[in-house]
Amino acid sequence: MAGHVAVVGATGAVGQEFIRVLEQRKFACKKMTFLASARSAGKTIAFKGEPHTVAELTETSFKGVDIALFSAGAFISRKFAPIAAQAGTVVVDNSSAFRMDPNVPLVVPEVNPEDIRKHKGIIANPNCSTIIMVVPVWPLHKLCPIERLVVSTYQAASGAGYQAMLELEEQSRDLLAGKKVTPRVLPHRIAFNLFSHNSKITANGYNEEEMKMVNETRKMFHCDRIQVSATCVRVPVPRAHSEAINITFARPVTEKQVFETLRSAPGTRIVDDREKNYFPMPIDSSDGDDVLVGRIRQDISQPDGRGIDLFVSGDQLRKGAALNAIQIAELL
Ligand code: A2P
Repeated sequence: MAGHVAVVGATGAVGQEFIRVLEQRKFACKKMTFLASARSAGKTIAFKGEPHTVAELTETSFKGVDIALFSAGAFISRKFAPIAAQAGTVVVDNSSAFRMDPNVPLVVPEVNPEDIRKHKGIIANPNCSTIIMVVPVWPLHKLCPIERLVVSTYQAASGAGYQAMLELEEQSRDLLAGKKVTPRVLPHRIAFNLFSHNSKITANGYNEEEMKMVNETRKMFHCDRIQVSATCVRVPVPRAHSEAINITFARPVTEKQVFETLRSAPGTRIVDDREKNYFPMPIDSSDGDDVLVGRIRQDISQPDGRGIDLFVSGDQLRKGAALNAIQIAELL
């Protein structure tokens, strides 16, 4: 049993999901502490039927804390995760702050659980879109080495935080009522629209979210040779990210081999009914633990049989964030 566990960013979209997943998985710990900004200090959060008061995150918050689950943004992680690690706390950090740090393991338990052992006080939780991609792709990479991945994402509003999810609701209501909307959290109108992911465009023309999918996949697979190209798009879906993934293997791989491999792959569930035209959808993957995988088919543009196409959908607040972090905490 873990002793004392703290949730940093407990009032946010992922923070709230941490609490739900900890309750659902009956995560055993002696004491829970909920931390957020001064704005939320004094609010009450119910956990396992008991009210807990939210405290302000400060430099002294980690005394006696064994495990801290961080999801309050990279700025807060950069400042407070080293302070927590110094105090003897093991940090599982959901932000991008330390993911590419060579001294920090980046872990998806279905992919590289052995890397947890290398931690020096901080373990990074990967980007949500990366997690949802690698859960089904890793067992295929073990089946036959992957040379190239081309991925297009359809990312939910809640990936940008709780306020962005509210903004989607508010804008949808306002537009249906004939009112004008002004974006407040996301850079563009999200209701009845979609736009290129709201992260910064980097020097090579890819945005930061896309480059996370490239670099984090290579780090977790321990494979710098794997080529990844991503196009990340925000869509008007409250929660759960979907992704179209095109794979090129080193050798020919059949549709049947992919079905067989994914049928027994941990963390995935096949949803692929061609007759009913029923495939993974965010309304089905939301609130669930599994990454749904479907549209499994041979890529006809690769006549040598080395190409496979997939369409996946996974709850990015759960497997893409809170659940993955809590699975890491369970392994700790
Ligand atoms: P608060 O609600 O007090 O602002 P989201 O990703 O949904 O936007 O949530 C962000 C989380 O990070 C919230 O819990 C938020 O707390 C927390 N947070 C933001 N700024 C700080 C800060 N300066 N110190 C501690 N927690 C913070």
